[in-house]
Amino acid sequence: MRPVYVALIFVAAGLLLADGSLSAQHATAFDIEDGGRAFRNTCATCHGPDGDQIAGIDLGRGQFRRPFTDQELVGIIRNGIPNTPMPATNVSEAQAVKIVAYLRSVAAARRSGAATGDAARGKAIFDGKGECSTCHRVNGTGSRLGPDLSRVGQLRRTIELEQSLREPAAEVLPANRFYTVTVRDGTKVTGRLLNHDTFTVQLLDAKEQLRSFVKADLREHGFASTPMPSYQDRLNSQETADVVSYLVSLKGARP
Ligand code: HEC
Ligand code: HEC
Repeated sequence: MRPVYVALIFVAAGLLLADGSLSAQHATAFDIEDGGRAFRNTCATCHGPDGDQIAGIDLGRGQFRRPFTDQELVGIIRNGIPNTPMPATNVSEAQAVKIVAYLRSVAAARRSGAATGDAARGKAIFDGKGECSTCHRVNGTGSRLGPDLSRVGQLRRTIELEQSLREPAAEVLPANRFYTVTVRDGTKVTGRLLNHDTFTVQLLDAKEQLRSFVKADLREHGFASTPMPSYQDRLNSQETADVVSYLVSLKGARP
């Protein structure tokens, strides 16, 4: 975890203590992290990775239909809300306390800033100035070189999307890794690694062609860094917020 997040979590834990709320007494950074994991596993399917997918409820910003105490939230998590689609879950009391600590901590971090973006402007940047579609595909248009982003808003949290733009190399999913091979005559080919075994390697190259190589015929081969550039200096903070809003809106086709 990066130090800045750790710091945020401690600040958040401090705010909880000031509230005198129940989860506060024991919430450590590890509890909060654990709560985040439980949230993604148990709650995100309905509430979304940022907790704002159900109209009128924004769990990640601490926006409820009425103010709940931590104890009431623990009760809702464990028992559900009768006569509504909010189900009882089988998480333990201790786990529910950690989920609440996590929700309070993200809400506190959110209050501390970040420009709000405009998804329509973000889409214009994605297809235009940002040149994102030269590598990424959304709902059937764009390139296959980078991962398909049609559902990225369903899969990733806002904070992770921001990080992908600022520091693309910081966290690369195994399925998205790049690989470079050097053939006998010295030509290098870099592409998304589709598959490799003891003897062969298959890549999707920059022209989106499937390329297969026999390792014994190669001069060199190995993992390459991501071709995605950092947008830290290419987009200002408003533009970044706009692009992130657009990414957050990409939830794939509704079933
Ligand atoms: C099967 C889908 C589903 C799952 C899983 C689910 N929820 Fe809900 N949740 C809902 C729905 C729908 C509502 C709105 C209920 C209503 O109409 O009042 C809701 C309401 C809530 C509320 C009340 C918000 C308010 O302002 O009234 C909280 C808090 C909440 N959920 C937290 C959670 C947490 C935390 C988890 C994971 C432990 C979770 N939910 C899992 C569907 C779900
Ligand atoms: C030169 C090609 C290239 C360009 C241009 C590019 N990307 Fe990427 N992007 C990639 C590749 C390759 C990956 C996968 C490796 C990684 O995570 O860095 C990636 C990863 C990502 C991820 C993480 C996906 C995940 O599932 O975790 C996001 C989000 C993303 N890009 C958004 C964007 C946006 C938005 C833009 C434009 C502002 C952009 N990219 C421009 C190639 C590119």
